[in-house]
Amino acid sequence: MPASKQQAPAQPVNLKAKASMIDQQWSPRVVAEMNDYQFKVVRIEGEFIWHSHPETDEAFLVLEGTLRIDLPAGCVWVQPGELFVVPQGVEHRTAAQGEAKLMMIEPRGVLNTGHEGGERTAQNDLWI
Ligand code: NI
Repeated sequence: MPASKQQAPAQPVNLKAKASMIDQQWSPRVVAEMNDYQFKVVRIEGEFIWHSHPETDEAFLVLEGTLRIDLPAGCVWVQPGELFVVPQGVEHRTAAQGEAKLMMIEPRGVLNTGHEGGERTAQNDLWI
């Protein structure tokens, strides 16, 4: 048997536990990758800034709390266990009254502020 087969198997990722380990809100952390996509968890509270991602869709899965996503046509409320995909190029702003824990799914290299930049831009590729 090859040496690699004798190692302990990889463990499943507990998304809520990972999100709880993040020391700051609005600081996404990568928990897994699949091909060129990343799964990131984040804790949020209050409002983010309006932005868009001209190059990709962006998926949000709520783990805890309630996520509000403001969109040009109005807002959507996303509850734990629910998923919402913001289409490529559509302006959006995430928000939560009280804290929410989320998982985001998007290609590697996507910035949280899109092309807006500014002080709320988080560093990419930080794992937890
Ligand atoms: Ni976004």
